[in-house]
Amino acid sequence: MSESMDMVAQDNNQVSIIIPTYNESRNIIQILKSIGENLPKNISAEAIVVDDNSPDSTGKIVDEYLKNVKKIAGYTMDIIHRTSKSGLSSAILSGIQRAKGDTIVVMDSDFSHPPQIIPKLIESLKNYQCDMVIASRYIKGGKINGWTLKRKIMSKIATLIAKKGLGVKTKDPMSGFFAFKKNILKGINFDAIGYKILLEILVKKSGIVVKEIPYTFENRNLGSSKLDSSTVIDYFKSAWKLYKFGKSKEKEEKRSSVKFLSKAARFYTVGLSGFVVNYFIALLLAGGISDLWYLHANLVGIVVSITTNFLLNKTWTFDDRDFAAKKTIKQYGKFVTFSSLGALVQLGMVFYLVDQYQLGYPIALVLAVLSAAFGNYILNKKFTFKEKVWG
Ligand code: GDD
Ligand code: MN
Repeated sequence: MSESMDMVAQDNNQVSIIIPTYNESRNIIQILKSIGENLPKNISAEAIVVDDNSPDSTGKIVDEYLKNVKKIAGYTMDIIHRTSKSGLSSAILSGIQRAKGDTIVVMDSDFSHPPQIIPKLIESLKNYQCDMVIASRYIKGGKINGWTLKRKIMSKIATLIAKKGLGVKTKDPMSGFFAFKKNILKGINFDAIGYKILLEILVKKSGIVVKEIPYTFENRNLGSSKLDSSTVIDYFKSAWKLYKFGKSKEKEEKRSSVKFLSKAARFYTVGLSGFVVNYFIALLLAGGISDLWYLHANLVGIVVSITTNFLLNKTWTFDDRDFAAKKTIKQYGKFVTFSSLGALVQLGMVFYLVDQYQLGYPIALVLAVLSAAFGNYILNKKFTFKEKVWG
């Protein structure tokens, strides 16, 4: 299954708390209440329960409750009914798709994730100006209460795989308790297999800024864990997919840098050819084949070399064979503009570096030529030939 995010319009000061449930009849109302009691007073929040048609009537119990209480001060509650058990990750995604807030909190319904931590997650998101805050068991101050040794070991192994195999830097990438800015999900294509939605976000959005805060995971008192052998198999499936995702992204990155550099090499080869054209035309016209005044000859040399540069860059460097008149003239105009701009920048820089910074002329010249040449390449790539800068 592949899911991408289609989201409802978001409210810029609301927090949406996503609570997936499967057979949580003994916990769900208590957790909804407890969340309401623990929310900071100054925010508006919605809780979204995502129930997978639990056989123990979790969904019906919530429906009944919501008939009487749908809203307490700034806190509203709602439920999504799905027809069958389709996994924790996909339940969380369903909740997020419905969320109105710009900030999302994901948590379990069985009190393993203490609602008292929610304000800290939200505050930290603001205070550290990061994209995501994870409630973490595996940093200083974090802890697990009530797990068997077997479960502890399994969790450690899963964490190790994520860190060593997938290169995740987070200390607790297996956490099910975290808050983030909803817009970071843009562009992610989710596999949403099994439990590990957090890991999928961390791998697929490796650029986001993540902060961890410690908490104590309390094993549930009521009901039972839904984690079974199929969850473990799902984890390996999901980790394998994420591993391949990482590899293909690496390759793409490499391809992009090779493209960027090889085009730069062509661009500067063309530049060099322009210099040769310029030089010989100026020489030839002022004596070789005609008797033009040397400044005029030089001017012709410049114009011709800019034109040959343009044509070579268009057809060779940027592989553009479309010579529609209007488009070509526009491109030529931009190319000439950027070339002149480059010359001006170069002159200005040399003057500034020598005059203001007392830099030696040869060094100043090198710096100025390099900056002008680099700027020239980027500007022409992006604006004249309408390519992405990178790639
Ligand atoms: N809608 C829906 N569909 N909810 C589900 C499903 C499902 O298929 N499977 C589990 N849930 C709900 C449970 O009802 C519970 O609220 C929450 O997801 C977590 O399930 P548990 O069965 O209680 O998981 P756990 O306690 O073993 O593991 C939890 O803690 C770990 C440590 O933080 C999960 O949050 C793990 O993701 C996490 O790694
Ligand atoms: Mn649990």
